[in-house]
Amino acid sequence: MTLREAFTAMNTTADLRLPFAVRPLTPRLGAELSGVVLADDMSDDTFGAIYAAFLRYQVLLFPPQDVPPARQVAFARRFGEVQIHVMNQYHADGFPELYRLSNLDDNGRPNGRHPDKGTLEWHTDGSWSRVSGQATIIYGEVMPETGGETHFCDMYEAYERLTPAWKARIAGLRAVHNLNFSRTRRHGEDPMTEEQRRAKPPVDQPIVRTHPETGRKCIYLGDHAESIVGMPYAEGRALIEELNALAVHADLTYEHRWTPRELILWDNRCVMHRATAYDPATQGRVIRRCTVLGEVPV
Ligand SMILES: [Fe+2]
Repeated sequence: MTLREAFTAMNTTADLRLPFAVRPLTPRLGAELSGVVLADDMSDDTFGAIYAAFLRYQVLLFPPQDVPPARQVAFARRFGEVQIHVMNQYHADGFPELYRLSNLDDNGRPNGRHPDKGTLEWHTDGSWSRVSGQATIIYGEVMPETGGETHFCDMYEAYERLTPAWKARIAGLRAVHNLNFSRTRRHGEDPMTEEQRRAKPPVDQPIVRTHPETGRKCIYLGDHAESIVGMPYAEGRALIEELNALAVHADLTYEHRWTPRELILWDNRCVMHRATAYDPATQGRVIRRCTVLGEVPV
């Protein structure tokens, strides 16, 4: 099955050729794919159909199953080169491609510390890198009883909903994305080292990007965006805050309440996401994440 055939099939009501069942999670974005064993070797046909669903639905959920670290990395590599995150203290399971966020101590008890409060703000993974994040793939190992959800918002439709005046105002503007800014401004814990800062200096990215595969325009901003190129700092900050808020709509958002051992992947090029808070003193939350490198946004 070609990508186009799979894509077409997913837009029809019944299709027996797909190697999985598709259950849309909202009318606009998100779908659960059932019937894929992610720990098994995957045929090119199955991967092609998953990739088509990834482009169509933007967020894919796979029901609870065992996905060992090596299989998660192998699955991520089907999408492309996998990011080795500059914050190397989070690397996990012997794979520099994996990034673990955990609030459990060595005895498996909650330690009271949130591992990355930056995740609580709407953002897109890897926008602070010239080559930004394509897919992010998260496996949920331990999930809290309450909180710790992940929310996803569709940035294609967010762009479409901007007024003509807003579209004209931001056309051609570029934002400077800076991991050191987003990491330190709200939380100030575990700051980047000098070496990490040198490895990932700020980069400018278009505020409106065109998805390289679907050809659709979307808002590309989020919490890593610090300033606007050619604009006074305070003015740029105000514009970023205003547009980040305008971009999020309840009816364009899928809110996922996790069950342990689920896997979710999403397209960072057209989706913003955030995690919700939980009590890190009483509840455990452990996820491991891979982000696939994509392309330089245009
Ligand atoms: Fe993220």
